[in-house]
Amino acid sequence: MKKTQHLNLHQSKLNTHEFLLCIFGTGDLGRSLGQRLLQSGYKVVYGSRRPHSCGPVPQGAQVMSHTAAAQSASVVFICIQREHYGFLEQLAPQLKRKVLVDVSNNLRKNLYPEANAEYLQRLTPEAYVVKAFNTLSAWALQNGPSDSNRQVYLCGNSTEAKEAVTEIATRLGFSVQDRGSLSAARELEDFPLQLFPLWRLPLRLAFGLTAFFFFYLLTRDVIYTYATQKKDISFRIMVSLANKVFPIVSLIMLALCYLPGVIAAVFQLYRGTKYRRFPDWLDRWMLCRKQLGLLALAFAFLHVLYTLIIPIRYYVRYKIAASTIAKVKQPHNTTIAWRSDSYYSMGILGFGLYVLLGITSLPSVSNALSWREFSFIQSKLGYLTLFFCTFHTYLYGWDMFLRSSYYKWYTPPGYMLSLLVPSVVLVLKLLLLLPCVDRSLTRIRQGWERTEPQ
Ligand code: HEM
Repeated sequence: MKKTQHLNLHQSKLNTHEFLLCIFGTGDLGRSLGQRLLQSGYKVVYGSRRPHSCGPVPQGAQVMSHTAAAQSASVVFICIQREHYGFLEQLAPQLKRKVLVDVSNNLRKNLYPEANAEYLQRLTPEAYVVKAFNTLSAWALQNGPSDSNRQVYLCGNSTEAKEAVTEIATRLGFSVQDRGSLSAARELEDFPLQLFPLWRLPLRLAFGLTAFFFFYLLTRDVIYTYATQKKDISFRIMVSLANKVFPIVSLIMLALCYLPGVIAAVFQLYRGTKYRRFPDWLDRWMLCRKQLGLLALAFAFLHVLYTLIIPIRYYVRYKIAASTIAKVKQPHNTTIAWRSDSYYSMGILGFGLYVLLGITSLPSVSNALSWREFSFIQSKLGYLTLFFCTFHTYLYGWDMFLRSSYYKWYTPPGYMLSLLVPSVVLVLKLLLLLPCVDRSLTRIRQGWERTEPQ
Protein backbone atom coordinates (compact mmCIF):
# COMPACT_ATOMS: atom_id res chain seq x y z
CA MET A 1 0.00 0.00 0.00
CA LYS A 2 3.03 2.30 0.13
CA LYS A 3 2.56 3.77 -3.32
CA THR A 4 -1.13 4.49 -2.86
CA GLN A 5 -0.24 6.35 0.29
CA HIS A 6 2.47 8.27 -1.45
CA LEU A 7 0.14 9.55 -4.15
CA ASN A 8 -2.63 10.22 -1.73
CA LEU A 9 -2.42 13.96 -1.35
CA HIS A 10 -6.03 14.42 -0.36
CA GLN A 11 -6.49 11.54 2.01
CA SER A 12 -10.00 11.50 3.26
CA LYS A 13 -11.29 12.63 6.58
CA LEU A 14 -13.60 9.60 6.40
CA ASN A 15 -10.71 7.26 5.82
CA THR A 16 -9.16 6.47 9.15
CA HIS A 17 -7.07 3.32 8.89
CA GLU A 18 -8.23 1.52 5.74
CA PHE A 19 -7.84 2.58 2.17
CA LEU A 20 -10.55 4.50 0.53
CA LEU A 21 -11.06 4.16 -3.20
CA CYS A 22 -13.46 6.14 -5.29
CA ILE A 23 -15.63 4.90 -8.14
CA PHE A 24 -17.41 7.22 -10.56
CA GLY A 25 -20.40 5.36 -11.97
CA THR A 26 -22.92 3.05 -10.35
CA GLY A 27 -23.65 0.84 -13.38
CA ASP A 28 -23.01 -2.93 -13.53
CA LEU A 29 -19.23 -2.60 -13.80
CA GLY A 30 -18.98 0.08 -11.09
CA ARG A 31 -21.08 -1.99 -8.69
CA SER A 32 -19.19 -5.26 -9.36
CA LEU A 33 -15.85 -3.52 -8.97
CA GLY A 34 -17.01 -1.87 -5.74
CA GLN A 35 -18.12 -5.21 -4.35
CA ARG A 36 -14.76 -6.85 -5.10
CA LEU A 37 -12.89 -3.92 -3.58
CA LEU A 38 -14.99 -4.08 -0.43
CA GLN A 39 -14.44 -7.86 -0.20
CA SER A 40 -10.71 -7.29 -0.53
CA GLY A 41 -10.64 -4.91 2.44
CA TYR A 42 -10.87 -1.48 0.78
CA LYS A 43 -13.36 1.19 1.65
CA VAL A 44 -15.36 2.41 -1.30
CA VAL A 45 -17.05 5.69 -2.02
CA TYR A 46 -19.15 6.23 -5.14
CA GLY A 47 -19.30 9.54 -6.94
CA SER A 48 -22.68 10.18 -8.52
CA ARG A 49 -24.61 13.00 -10.20
CA ARG A 50 -27.59 12.18 -7.96
CA PRO A 51 -26.09 10.83 -4.73
CA HIS A 52 -29.54 10.40 -3.14
CA SER A 53 -31.26 8.53 -5.98
CA CYS A 54 -28.51 6.66 -7.82
CA GLY A 55 -29.87 3.12 -7.31
CA PRO A 56 -28.41 0.29 -5.26
CA VAL A 57 -24.71 0.19 -4.40
CA PRO A 58 -22.88 -2.65 -2.60
CA GLN A 59 -23.43 -2.81 1.12
CA GLY A 60 -20.80 -0.86 3.03
CA ALA A 61 -20.11 1.68 0.28
CA GLN A 62 -20.98 5.36 0.55
CA VAL A 63 -22.36 7.61 -2.15
CA MET A 64 -21.43 11.29 -2.49
CA SER A 65 -21.38 13.97 -5.12
CA HIS A 66 -18.60 13.67 -7.71
CA THR A 67 -16.71 16.59 -6.16
CA ALA A 68 -16.83 15.28 -2.59
CA ALA A 69 -15.99 11.70 -3.65
CA ALA A 70 -13.05 12.87 -5.81
CA GLN A 71 -11.63 14.86 -2.90
CA SER A 72 -11.87 11.91 -0.52
CA ALA A 73 -9.64 9.39 -2.34
CA SER A 74 -6.37 9.30 -4.24
CA VAL A 75 -7.43 6.63 -6.72
CA VAL A 76 -10.59 7.15 -8.75
CA PHE A 77 -12.04 4.44 -11.00
CA ILE A 78 -13.88 5.98 -13.95
CA CYS A 79 -16.65 3.45 -14.64
CA ILE A 80 -18.73 5.63 -16.94
CA GLN A 81 -19.05 5.73 -20.69
CA ARG A 82 -16.76 7.95 -22.68
CA GLU A 83 -19.69 9.98 -24.04
CA HIS A 84 -20.27 11.24 -20.47
CA TYR A 85 -16.65 12.19 -19.70
CA GLY A 86 -17.35 15.88 -20.42
CA PHE A 87 -18.13 16.82 -16.78
CA LEU A 88 -14.67 15.60 -15.68
CA GLU A 89 -13.16 18.69 -17.25
CA GLN A 90 -14.86 20.84 -14.60
CA LEU A 91 -13.63 18.45 -11.91
CA ALA A 92 -10.04 18.77 -13.13
CA PRO A 93 -8.93 20.86 -10.09
CA GLN A 94 -10.25 18.21 -7.67
CA LEU A 95 -8.66 15.44 -9.74
CA LYS A 96 -5.24 17.07 -9.83
CA ARG A 97 -2.48 14.54 -8.94
CA LYS A 98 -5.02 11.75 -8.49
CA VAL A 99 -4.75 8.36 -10.15
CA LEU A 100 -7.64 8.00 -12.59
CA VAL A 101 -8.25 4.40 -13.68
CA ASP A 102 -10.02 4.32 -17.04
CA VAL A 103 -11.89 1.01 -17.37
CA SER A 104 -13.99 1.95 -20.40
CA ASN A 105 -14.40 0.21 -23.76
CA ASN A 106 -16.04 1.12 -27.05
CA LEU A 107 -18.66 -0.64 -29.10
CA ARG A 108 -16.38 -0.93 -32.12
CA LYS A 109 -12.82 -0.20 -33.18
CA ASN A 110 -11.74 3.26 -34.37
CA LEU A 111 -14.96 4.89 -33.16
CA TYR A 112 -13.00 7.94 -31.92
CA PRO A 113 -9.77 9.53 -33.13
CA GLU A 114 -8.06 8.95 -29.77
CA ALA A 115 -8.28 6.24 -27.12
CA ASN A 116 -10.74 6.85 -24.25
CA ALA A 117 -7.88 6.98 -21.73
CA GLU A 118 -5.98 9.56 -23.83
CA TYR A 119 -9.16 11.65 -24.08
CA LEU A 120 -9.52 11.45 -20.28
CA GLN A 121 -5.92 12.57 -19.88
CA ARG A 122 -6.61 15.53 -22.17
CA LEU A 123 -9.63 16.54 -20.03
CA THR A 124 -7.68 16.20 -16.77
CA PRO A 125 -4.07 17.07 -17.70
CA GLU A 126 -2.81 17.10 -14.13
CA ALA A 127 -4.19 13.71 -13.15
CA TYR A 128 -2.31 10.41 -13.62
CA VAL A 129 -4.45 8.37 -16.02
CA VAL A 130 -3.99 4.59 -16.06
CA LYS A 131 -5.88 2.33 -18.45
CA ALA A 132 -6.73 -0.93 -16.67
CA PHE A 133 -9.37 -3.58 -15.93
CA ASN A 134 -11.12 -2.96 -19.27
CA THR A 135 -10.58 -6.55 -20.44
CA LEU A 136 -12.55 -7.92 -17.47
CA SER A 137 -16.31 -8.20 -17.50
CA ALA A 138 -18.56 -7.17 -14.60
CA TRP A 139 -19.08 -10.91 -14.07
CA ALA A 140 -15.34 -11.57 -13.83
CA LEU A 141 -14.92 -8.71 -11.37
CA GLN A 142 -17.77 -9.85 -9.19
CA ASN A 143 -16.78 -13.52 -9.08
CA GLY A 144 -13.10 -12.93 -8.75
CA PRO A 145 -10.21 -14.43 -10.64
CA SER A 146 -10.83 -18.02 -9.57
CA ASP A 147 -13.86 -18.17 -11.84
CA SER A 148 -12.54 -16.35 -14.87
CA ASN A 149 -9.73 -14.55 -16.61
CA ARG A 150 -6.93 -13.63 -14.16
CA GLN A 151 -5.11 -11.17 -16.38
CA VAL A 152 -5.31 -7.38 -15.99
CA TYR A 153 -3.53 -5.32 -18.65
CA LEU A 154 -2.59 -1.78 -17.82
CA CYS A 155 -0.77 1.17 -19.32
CA GLY A 156 -0.09 4.75 -18.30
CA ASN A 157 2.56 7.47 -18.30
CA SER A 158 3.23 7.54 -14.56
CA THR A 159 5.17 4.62 -13.10
CA GLU A 160 3.97 5.41 -9.59
CA ALA A 161 0.34 5.52 -10.65
CA LYS A 162 0.74 2.19 -12.45
CA GLU A 163 2.32 0.70 -9.34
CA ALA A 164 -0.60 1.89 -7.22
CA VAL A 165 -3.10 0.25 -9.62
CA THR A 166 -0.95 -2.90 -9.80
CA GLU A 167 -1.08 -3.12 -6.03
CA ILE A 168 -4.88 -2.92 -6.03
CA ALA A 169 -5.26 -5.47 -8.86
CA THR A 170 -2.87 -7.86 -7.12
CA ARG A 171 -4.79 -7.51 -3.89
CA LEU A 172 -7.98 -8.37 -5.80
CA GLY A 173 -6.21 -11.56 -6.91
CA PHE A 174 -5.46 -10.63 -10.54
CA SER A 175 -2.11 -10.86 -12.26
CA VAL A 176 -0.98 -7.71 -13.99
CA GLN A 177 0.77 -7.15 -17.29
CA ASP A 178 2.18 -3.66 -17.88
CA ARG A 179 1.80 -2.73 -21.58
CA GLY A 180 3.75 0.52 -21.39
CA SER A 181 2.73 4.15 -21.76
CA LEU A 182 -0.74 5.58 -22.34
CA SER A 183 -0.19 5.35 -26.09
CA ALA A 184 -0.90 1.60 -25.71
CA ALA A 185 -4.44 2.42 -24.47
CA ARG A 186 -6.00 2.01 -27.90
CA GLU A 187 -4.54 -1.48 -28.21
CA LEU A 188 -5.95 -2.38 -24.77
CA GLU A 189 -9.33 -0.93 -25.70
CA ASP A 190 -9.37 -3.07 -28.84
CA PHE A 191 -8.70 -6.32 -26.88
CA PRO A 192 -12.32 -6.96 -25.82
CA LEU A 193 -13.51 -6.28 -29.39
CA GLN A 194 -11.38 -9.01 -30.88
CA LEU A 195 -13.25 -12.05 -32.12
CA PHE A 196 -10.92 -15.05 -32.08
CA PRO A 197 -8.27 -13.29 -34.19
CA LEU A 198 -5.88 -16.26 -34.23
CA TRP A 199 -8.66 -18.71 -35.04
CA ARG A 200 -9.87 -16.90 -38.14
CA LEU A 201 -7.33 -18.30 -40.61
CA PRO A 202 -7.41 -21.89 -39.28
CA LEU A 203 -11.23 -21.86 -39.24
CA ARG A 204 -11.40 -20.56 -42.81
CA LEU A 205 -8.89 -23.18 -43.90
CA ALA A 206 -10.79 -25.98 -42.16
CA PHE A 207 -14.03 -24.82 -43.72
CA GLY A 208 -12.49 -24.49 -47.19
CA LEU A 209 -10.80 -27.90 -47.08
CA THR A 210 -13.95 -29.59 -45.71
CA ALA A 211 -16.13 -28.07 -48.45
CA PHE A 212 -13.63 -28.95 -51.19
CA PHE A 213 -13.18 -32.58 -50.11
CA PHE A 214 -16.88 -33.05 -49.46
CA PHE A 215 -17.79 -32.06 -53.02
CA TYR A 216 -14.79 -33.87 -54.47
CA LEU A 217 -15.69 -37.14 -52.75
CA LEU A 218 -19.42 -36.67 -53.36
CA THR A 219 -18.72 -36.43 -57.08
CA ARG A 220 -16.30 -39.38 -57.13
CA ASP A 221 -18.34 -41.72 -54.96
CA VAL A 222 -22.06 -40.90 -55.03
CA ILE A 223 -22.55 -39.03 -58.32
CA TYR A 224 -20.14 -41.27 -60.25
CA THR A 225 -21.94 -44.45 -59.09
CA TYR A 226 -25.29 -42.97 -60.01
CA ALA A 227 -24.08 -41.78 -63.41
CA THR A 228 -22.34 -45.01 -64.40
CA GLN A 229 -24.41 -47.71 -62.64
CA LYS A 230 -27.72 -45.94 -61.92
CA LYS A 231 -27.26 -46.98 -58.27
CA ASP A 232 -28.27 -44.64 -55.45
CA ILE A 233 -25.71 -44.81 -52.66
CA SER A 234 -26.42 -41.33 -51.30
CA PHE A 235 -26.86 -42.79 -47.76
CA ARG A 236 -23.05 -43.05 -47.68
CA ILE A 237 -22.87 -39.27 -47.29
CA MET A 238 -23.76 -39.54 -43.60
CA VAL A 239 -20.97 -41.80 -42.39
CA SER A 240 -18.69 -43.15 -45.14
CA LEU A 241 -18.15 -39.78 -46.80
CA ALA A 242 -17.82 -37.95 -43.49
CA ASN A 243 -15.28 -40.55 -42.36
CA LYS A 244 -13.16 -39.73 -45.40
CA VAL A 245 -13.50 -35.94 -45.31
CA PHE A 246 -12.64 -35.55 -41.60
CA PRO A 247 -9.40 -37.59 -41.51
CA ILE A 248 -8.25 -36.08 -44.80
CA VAL A 249 -8.75 -32.52 -43.50
CA SER A 250 -7.16 -33.48 -40.18
CA LEU A 251 -4.03 -34.90 -41.82
CA ILE A 252 -3.58 -31.90 -44.13
CA MET A 253 -4.04 -29.44 -41.25
CA LEU A 254 -1.61 -31.33 -39.05
CA ALA A 255 0.96 -31.13 -41.83
CA LEU A 256 0.22 -27.42 -42.24
CA CYS A 257 1.20 -26.94 -38.57
CA TYR A 258 4.70 -28.20 -39.33
CA LEU A 259 5.19 -26.78 -42.82
CA PRO A 260 5.89 -23.17 -41.69
CA GLY A 261 8.63 -24.37 -39.30
CA VAL A 262 10.32 -26.20 -42.16
CA ILE A 263 9.94 -23.18 -44.48
CA ALA A 264 11.41 -20.92 -41.75
CA ALA A 265 14.43 -23.23 -41.47
CA VAL A 266 14.92 -23.11 -45.25
CA PHE A 267 14.77 -19.27 -45.11
CA GLN A 268 17.39 -19.19 -42.34
CA LEU A 269 19.69 -21.56 -44.23
CA TYR A 270 19.32 -19.58 -47.44
CA ARG A 271 19.92 -16.20 -45.77
CA GLY A 272 22.64 -17.52 -43.45
CA THR A 273 21.25 -15.62 -40.45
CA LYS A 274 18.44 -15.77 -37.92
CA TYR A 275 18.36 -12.00 -37.48
CA ARG A 276 16.32 -11.14 -40.57
CA ARG A 277 12.55 -11.00 -40.25
CA PHE A 278 10.45 -13.67 -41.92
CA PRO A 279 7.89 -12.49 -44.47
CA ASP A 280 4.59 -11.37 -42.88
CA TRP A 281 2.61 -14.30 -44.28
CA LEU A 282 5.02 -16.75 -42.63
CA ASP A 283 4.87 -14.87 -39.31
CA ARG A 284 1.08 -14.94 -39.36
CA TRP A 285 1.06 -18.63 -40.29
CA MET A 286 3.46 -19.51 -37.48
CA LEU A 287 1.39 -17.57 -34.95
CA CYS A 288 -1.73 -19.66 -35.57
CA ARG A 289 -0.08 -23.11 -35.49
CA LYS A 290 -1.64 -23.98 -32.14
CA GLN A 291 -5.13 -23.20 -33.42
CA LEU A 292 -4.45 -25.19 -36.61
CA GLY A 293 -3.33 -28.15 -34.49
CA LEU A 294 -6.33 -28.01 -32.14
CA LEU A 295 -8.75 -27.91 -35.07
CA ALA A 296 -6.89 -30.80 -36.71
CA LEU A 297 -7.22 -32.74 -33.46
CA ALA A 298 -10.98 -32.09 -33.40
CA PHE A 299 -11.26 -33.54 -36.93
CA ALA A 300 -9.17 -36.57 -35.88
CA PHE A 301 -11.57 -37.13 -32.96
CA LEU A 302 -14.50 -37.14 -35.39
CA HIS A 303 -12.68 -39.69 -37.58
CA VAL A 304 -12.08 -41.97 -34.58
CA LEU A 305 -15.71 -41.69 -33.45
CA TYR A 306 -17.01 -42.44 -36.95
CA THR A 307 -14.61 -45.38 -37.18
CA LEU A 308 -15.87 -46.79 -33.87
CA ILE A 309 -19.43 -47.06 -35.15
CA ILE A 310 -18.46 -48.92 -38.34
CA PRO A 311 -19.24 -52.40 -36.92
CA ILE A 312 -22.77 -51.42 -35.82
CA ARG A 313 -23.82 -49.84 -39.11
CA TYR A 314 -26.68 -51.63 -40.86
CA TYR A 315 -24.96 -51.35 -44.23
CA VAL A 316 -21.71 -52.82 -42.89
CA ARG A 317 -23.43 -55.70 -41.08
CA TYR A 318 -25.32 -56.48 -44.27
CA LYS A 319 -22.11 -56.46 -46.34
CA ILE A 320 -20.27 -58.60 -43.76
CA ALA A 321 -23.05 -61.20 -43.70
CA ALA A 322 -23.05 -61.37 -47.50
CA SER A 323 -19.30 -61.82 -47.76
CA THR A 324 -18.69 -64.10 -44.75
CA ILE A 325 -19.44 -67.34 -46.59
CA ALA A 326 -17.26 -66.37 -49.55
CA LYS A 327 -14.42 -65.42 -47.17
CA VAL A 328 -14.60 -68.67 -45.20
CA LYS A 329 -13.88 -70.56 -48.41
CA GLN A 330 -10.76 -68.47 -49.09
CA PRO A 331 -7.40 -69.27 -47.43
CA HIS A 332 -6.35 -66.84 -44.68
CA ASN A 333 -4.32 -64.00 -46.21
CA THR A 334 -1.47 -62.98 -43.87
CA THR A 335 -0.55 -59.95 -45.97
CA ILE A 336 -4.03 -58.47 -45.60
CA ALA A 337 -3.93 -59.21 -41.86
CA TRP A 338 -0.54 -57.45 -41.55
CA ARG A 339 -1.70 -54.52 -43.57
CA SER A 340 -4.93 -53.92 -41.66
CA ASP A 341 -3.35 -54.47 -38.25
CA SER A 342 -0.48 -52.14 -39.12
CA TYR A 343 -2.68 -49.32 -40.34
CA TYR A 344 -4.93 -49.56 -37.32
CA SER A 345 -1.91 -49.60 -35.04
CA MET A 346 -0.36 -46.56 -36.78
CA GLY A 347 -3.70 -44.75 -36.52
CA ILE A 348 -3.99 -45.47 -32.81
CA LEU A 349 -0.38 -44.45 -32.07
CA GLY A 350 -0.82 -41.31 -34.17
CA PHE A 351 -4.05 -40.44 -32.42
CA GLY A 352 -2.53 -41.05 -28.95
CA LEU A 353 0.31 -38.63 -29.65
CA TYR A 354 -2.10 -36.20 -31.29
CA VAL A 355 -4.07 -36.02 -28.00
CA LEU A 356 -0.81 -35.52 -26.07
CA LEU A 357 0.09 -32.58 -28.36
CA GLY A 358 -3.36 -31.08 -27.81
CA ILE A 359 -3.15 -31.41 -24.02
CA THR A 360 0.33 -29.92 -23.80
CA SER A 361 -0.73 -26.92 -25.86
CA LEU A 362 -3.19 -25.88 -23.10
CA PRO A 363 -1.72 -22.96 -21.15
CA SER A 364 -2.25 -24.64 -17.75
CA VAL A 365 -0.17 -27.63 -18.90
CA SER A 366 2.42 -25.82 -21.01
CA ASN A 367 3.11 -23.37 -18.15
CA ALA A 368 4.17 -26.32 -16.01
CA LEU A 369 6.71 -27.50 -18.62
CA SER A 370 10.21 -26.19 -19.17
CA TRP A 371 10.91 -24.75 -22.63
CA ARG A 372 12.96 -27.88 -23.47
CA GLU A 373 10.15 -30.23 -22.45
CA PHE A 374 7.59 -28.20 -24.38
CA SER A 375 9.67 -28.05 -27.54
CA PHE A 376 10.50 -31.78 -27.27
CA ILE A 377 6.79 -32.64 -27.19
CA GLN A 378 5.60 -30.10 -29.75
CA SER A 379 8.47 -30.56 -32.17
CA LYS A 380 9.97 -34.08 -31.92
CA LEU A 381 6.77 -35.85 -30.87
CA GLY A 382 4.84 -33.61 -33.25
CA TYR A 383 6.82 -34.87 -36.26
CA LEU A 384 6.41 -38.43 -34.95
CA THR A 385 2.64 -37.89 -34.82
CA LEU A 386 2.68 -36.63 -38.39
CA PHE A 387 4.77 -39.64 -39.39
CA PHE A 388 2.38 -42.16 -37.76
CA CYS A 389 -0.72 -40.53 -39.25
CA THR A 390 0.86 -40.32 -42.71
CA PHE A 391 2.05 -43.92 -42.52
CA HIS A 392 -1.45 -44.97 -41.36
CA THR A 393 -2.85 -43.40 -44.53
CA TYR A 394 -0.16 -44.92 -46.81
CA LEU A 395 -0.92 -48.36 -45.33
CA TYR A 396 -4.64 -47.76 -45.73
CA GLY A 397 -4.09 -46.96 -49.42
CA TRP A 398 -1.63 -49.86 -49.89
CA ASP A 399 -1.63 -50.73 -53.62
CA MET A 400 -4.77 -48.76 -54.42
CA PHE A 401 -2.73 -46.29 -56.44
CA LEU A 402 -1.83 -49.05 -58.92
CA ARG A 403 -5.43 -49.95 -59.75
CA SER A 404 -7.02 -47.93 -62.52
CA SER A 405 -10.56 -48.64 -61.20
CA TYR A 406 -9.88 -46.23 -58.30
CA TYR A 407 -9.28 -43.28 -60.63
CA LYS A 408 -12.94 -42.52 -61.22
CA TRP A 409 -13.39 -39.93 -63.95
CA TYR A 410 -9.58 -39.74 -63.98
CA THR A 411 -9.46 -38.28 -60.45
CA PRO A 412 -7.26 -39.78 -57.71
CA PRO A 413 -8.87 -41.03 -54.46
CA GLY A 414 -9.13 -38.44 -51.69
CA TYR A 415 -6.57 -40.12 -49.45
CA MET A 416 -3.87 -39.65 -52.15
CA LEU A 417 -4.48 -35.90 -52.20
CA SER A 418 -4.30 -35.84 -48.40
CA LEU A 419 -0.82 -37.38 -48.53
CA LEU A 420 0.73 -34.60 -50.63
CA VAL A 421 1.41 -31.95 -47.95
CA PRO A 422 2.45 -34.39 -45.14
CA SER A 423 4.82 -36.21 -47.49
CA VAL A 424 6.46 -32.93 -48.56
CA VAL A 425 6.83 -31.85 -44.90
CA LEU A 426 8.35 -35.18 -43.85
CA VAL A 427 10.81 -35.27 -46.78
CA LEU A 428 11.92 -31.67 -46.13
CA LYS A 429 12.31 -32.43 -42.43
CA LEU A 430 14.45 -35.49 -43.25
CA LEU A 431 16.64 -33.30 -45.48
CA LEU A 432 17.00 -30.77 -42.65
CA LEU A 433 18.08 -33.59 -40.34
CA LEU A 434 21.01 -34.55 -42.60
CA PRO A 435 24.13 -33.96 -40.42
CA CYS A 436 25.68 -31.28 -42.67
CA VAL A 437 22.42 -29.32 -42.97
CA ASP A 438 21.54 -29.76 -39.29
CA ARG A 439 24.97 -28.48 -38.23
CA SER A 440 24.63 -25.26 -40.27
CA LEU A 441 21.10 -24.66 -39.02
CA THR A 442 22.09 -25.16 -35.38
CA ARG A 443 24.97 -22.67 -35.77
CA ILE A 444 22.67 -20.10 -37.37
CA ARG A 445 20.14 -20.55 -34.56
CA GLN A 446 22.92 -20.04 -32.02
CA GLY A 447 23.63 -16.62 -33.53
CA TRP A 448 26.28 -17.35 -36.18
CA GLU A 449 25.95 -15.33 -39.41
CA ARG A 450 27.28 -16.06 -42.86
CA THR A 451 29.31 -13.10 -44.12
CA GLU A 452 28.80 -12.34 -47.77
CA PRO A 453 32.01 -11.92 -49.83
CA GLN A 454 32.70 -8.18 -50.39
C1 HEM B 1 -8.77 -44.07 -42.90
C2 HEM B 1 -9.04 -46.08 -38.53
C3 HEM B 1 -6.59 -42.39 -36.61
C4 HEM B 1 -6.14 -40.45 -41.03
C5 HEM B 1 -9.08 -44.89 -41.86
C6 HEM B 1 -9.97 -46.00 -41.96
C7 HEM B 1 -10.04 -46.57 -40.74
C8 HEM B 1 -9.22 -45.81 -39.86
C9 HEM B 1 -10.89 -47.76 -40.36
C10 HEM B 1 -10.68 -46.44 -43.24
C11 HEM B 1 -11.96 -45.68 -43.32
C12 HEM B 1 -12.77 -46.11 -44.53
O1 HEM B 1 -12.84 -47.29 -44.79
O2 HEM B 1 -13.32 -45.21 -45.18
C13 HEM B 1 -8.39 -45.27 -37.63
C14 HEM B 1 -8.25 -45.53 -36.22
C15 HEM B 1 -7.55 -44.48 -35.69
C16 HEM B 1 -7.25 -43.58 -36.77
C17 HEM B 1 -8.80 -46.73 -35.52
C18 HEM B 1 -7.11 -44.21 -34.25
C19 HEM B 1 -7.75 -44.60 -33.19
C20 HEM B 1 -6.27 -41.55 -37.64
C21 HEM B 1 -5.56 -40.31 -37.47
C22 HEM B 1 -5.43 -39.78 -38.72
C23 HEM B 1 -6.06 -40.66 -39.67
C24 HEM B 1 -5.06 -39.73 -36.15
C25 HEM B 1 -4.73 -38.47 -39.07
C26 HEM B 1 -5.24 -37.39 -39.22
C27 HEM B 1 -6.80 -41.28 -41.90
C28 HEM B 1 -6.96 -41.00 -43.32
C29 HEM B 1 -7.70 -42.05 -43.86
C30 HEM B 1 -8.01 -42.94 -42.76
C31 HEM B 1 -6.40 -39.76 -44.06
C32 HEM B 1 -8.12 -42.21 -45.34
C33 HEM B 1 -9.54 -41.67 -45.52
C34 HEM B 1 -10.12 -42.06 -46.86
O3 HEM B 1 -9.82 -41.42 -47.86
O4 HEM B 1 -10.87 -43.05 -46.91
N1 HEM B 1 -8.64 -44.78 -40.58
N2 HEM B 1 -7.77 -44.09 -37.94
N3 HEM B 1 -6.55 -41.73 -38.97
N4 HEM B 1 -7.46 -42.46 -41.62
FE1 HEM B 1 -7.60 -43.27 -39.78
